[in-house]
Amino acid sequence: MNYGHFDDAHREYVISRPDTPLPWLNYIGQDDFFGLCTNTAGGYSFWKDSRLRRLTRYRYNNIPYDLGGRYIYVNDGGSVWNPGWMPVKAKLDSYECRHGMGYSRIVGSKDGLEVEMLFFVPPGRNEEVWKITVRNKSGAVKKPKLFAYQEFCFYEALNDMTNYQRTWSIGEVEVEGNAIYHKTEYRERRNHYALFACTRPVAGFDTDRDAFVGLHNGLHEATAPFAGKCSGSMAFGWNPVGALEVDLELAPGAEESFAFVLAYVEQGEAPKFDKPFVMNKEVGHATLARYSKTSDIDATFAKLGAFWDGLLANFQAELPDEHANRMLNAWNQYQCMATFNLSRSTSMYETGIGRGMGFRDSNQDLLGFMHMIPSRARERILDIASTQLSDGTCYHQYQPLTKKGNAEIGGDFYDDHLWLVLSTCAYIKETGDLSILDEGCGYADKKYKLGADGKKIKAESLLHHLETSIAYTMKKRGPNKLPLIGHADWNDCLNLNCFSTEPNESFQCAGDVKDSKAESVMIAGLFLYASREMAALYDFMKRPDDSKRMMKSRAEMMDAVEHAGWDGEWYRRAYDAAGRPIGSKENEEGKIFIESQGWCVLGGAGADDAPEATRGRARKAMASVDKYLYTPKGVVLQQPSYSTYHPELGEVTSYPPGVKENGGIFSHNNTWIHLGWCLLGEGDKALEYYLSICPSAKQDEIDIYRSEPYVYAQMTAGKDAPCFGEAKNSWLTGTAAWTLVALTQGILGVKPGYEGLVVDPCIAKKWKGFKATRKFRGAEYHIEVKNPKGVCKGVVSVKVDGAVIESVNKAALLPIFPQGTKHEVEIVLG
Ligand code: GLC
Ligand code: GLC
Repeated sequence: MNYGHFDDAHREYVISRPDTPLPWLNYIGQDDFFGLCTNTAGGYSFWKDSRLRRLTRYRYNNIPYDLGGRYIYVNDGGSVWNPGWMPVKAKLDSYECRHGMGYSRIVGSKDGLEVEMLFFVPPGRNEEVWKITVRNKSGAVKKPKLFAYQEFCFYEALNDMTNYQRTWSIGEVEVEGNAIYHKTEYRERRNHYALFACTRPVAGFDTDRDAFVGLHNGLHEATAPFAGKCSGSMAFGWNPVGALEVDLELAPGAEESFAFVLAYVEQGEAPKFDKPFVMNKEVGHATLARYSKTSDIDATFAKLGAFWDGLLANFQAELPDEHANRMLNAWNQYQCMATFNLSRSTSMYETGIGRGMGFRDSNQDLLGFMHMIPSRARERILDIASTQLSDGTCYHQYQPLTKKGNAEIGGDFYDDHLWLVLSTCAYIKETGDLSILDEGCGYADKKYKLGADGKKIKAESLLHHLETSIAYTMKKRGPNKLPLIGHADWNDCLNLNCFSTEPNESFQCAGDVKDSKAESVMIAGLFLYASREMAALYDFMKRPDDSKRMMKSRAEMMDAVEHAGWDGEWYRRAYDAAGRPIGSKENEEGKIFIESQGWCVLGGAGADDAPEATRGRARKAMASVDKYLYTPKGVVLQQPSYSTYHPELGEVTSYPPGVKENGGIFSHNNTWIHLGWCLLGEGDKALEYYLSICPSAKQDEIDIYRSEPYVYAQMTAGKDAPCFGEAKNSWLTGTAAWTLVALTQGILGVKPGYEGLVVDPCIAKKWKGFKATRKFRGAEYHIEVKNPKGVCKGVVSVKVDGAVIESVNKAALLPIFPQGTKHEVEIVLG
């Protein structure tokens, strides 16, 4: 079945029917105000923190899944329908949804009336705009009535969904002209409110849900739109909503545009009330004044387009593969913005209540984002670092609003701290900004120290955090000299200290990691990588002794990896609390895992230039991945999947075989294998594997795949599942950043370095070359790579602005140029 297609020229995915195999989501918002919007206009909005500042209400796992959202009901002479089909689901004469960069445009028509809804958040603003255009395409005058509807949330989303004994008594609103002010809890501690308004005169309003919808009705049969009028209800308690009625009269061929605006307003220093119970609405008025003319609305929308043009211009390419091409030029980078902003907090699968910003997740998300807005990356790195504890461990997650660690979710995931090294080094390579290392971020448990003048200053610099991270892994090692695993490493479900037999406890927090001996080979591999990054950073800082110290630790870890980590055909995954190997031929199930192959190879274990005893193990490990784990739909996480629950292994064995961490195709870790192939010079394999999980390449099997074809999903069911090939948990996944790294830095080989821009492609033999434009340190590089001999790798000549430069280790090292300059680069492989 065909549900849509890419419109690459406009960077849009065009959905041509509303009944997609799952709701297909887009995000609006790029700074602080965000909204989720499905192809039938389902979703909700929040400011900064989807748990603590939820503005509109949403019922998760509703029936249908995405019921509840930004709804426009049309009453055209008694016939009631929605341009986005839901919730009335009247049969439309035409329907189209275009998900674009930061906006969604949904157009529906019926009986000669066309209604277009364009949802977006203007850059830098704290409100969303629903631009509505109504077109009379019939031969007769039409007098349609439009009803805009959304339900307010009481900001703290968990309380909002659970504490009705309170919430059903606190709702308050004010109505003034075309605007509804949602002021629940404003009288007490809140200094902010939500505002829903129309830019043109309204014919009526409702603010009480039961009045608008009808106490015994569903949204598909809401009272007001079917009656053709709002009742002017004033909510007091129960459930305040924003419902506005607009009555139009359109001659044949005429059209009219206006907008609804949903704003989050911070009152700031202004007095809260004009008089008792009457809010001072000045800030709200100022917000609405920006949208008084249709041309203002169009101008703000144009700013959004310019914003994305600017961001994406940092990296554009012309690649011989259409899927890689569109993912790189638009969708993959776009998804990186979403994961950067939202971590794993809020999607169709994440409620925005359970998880905040993840320590490991956000550090990895940064890898795909920093070339777009390095200043925001800088701030994020420092925020994340401040949730590390002085002993080296980390809060696993923090709330974006408060920037404070979330104690409920726990800590002691012994990989967390190492990802900070990766994000920081990548940031410095991108920007050259070493000053970030001196920023005092302080530890969560030790924020300040006293300066010479007796005043409090932020304790300990970012560099101190990086050292603490490296030292922590070296200190916390087990009997095989491999790093201890704690509650889990990257694989949250490999809980070797959990031993849970109690269904009421969370695998993530249960068990005691103290004195445990369980070790992780994956963390060891990650450490090989991180310590080498640190050494290179110190080399660049001209601190050779520190660099040597790092390499010494790395050598020690390498020994442990090659002794205790090698299983004969691949790298083992871990040692359990009793000292038994996991991910070994000795196991009956879970004999081989993907993560340790990825990280040991990327960390340099078993490399082609390793000492003879271990040389070539990397190639062997990758061959084992190919033999035991690869499928044309991606690489499964381990084999065989676990068929029974093992308390000594934890949550990984709790999932049915073939899904999630138990043998699912977990896209995130696939990308490490893509990079591994590139490291080994296997460009054909890298591209084949890249395409195996690429969403754009899934359109032909979309009824099986089901998730959005324009963004990565966390997981596709593996070969052991009855639904092999079905994807779940789209959007918020570390795949976004890592796959961009795999494609741009691995396959295209365009890598920021301390001394310049490195170009070291590893492409498929059949690629005749490619072009890329990369902005780096303020200069623009127009790179053309030619592959006349059909090789995968190996730069033989480099010309910059016509002049030949020497290649370094068969790669190009392009110099750093003055800001604002443009340079032509020609690279030949051979
Ligand atoms: C989820 C988590 C991430 C973890 C991964 C594997 O995506 O957000 O932190 O690494 O699952 O378990
Ligand atoms: C579950 C999931 C894993 C996720 C974790 C977060 O274990 O399987 O992917 O990272 O929950 O709490």
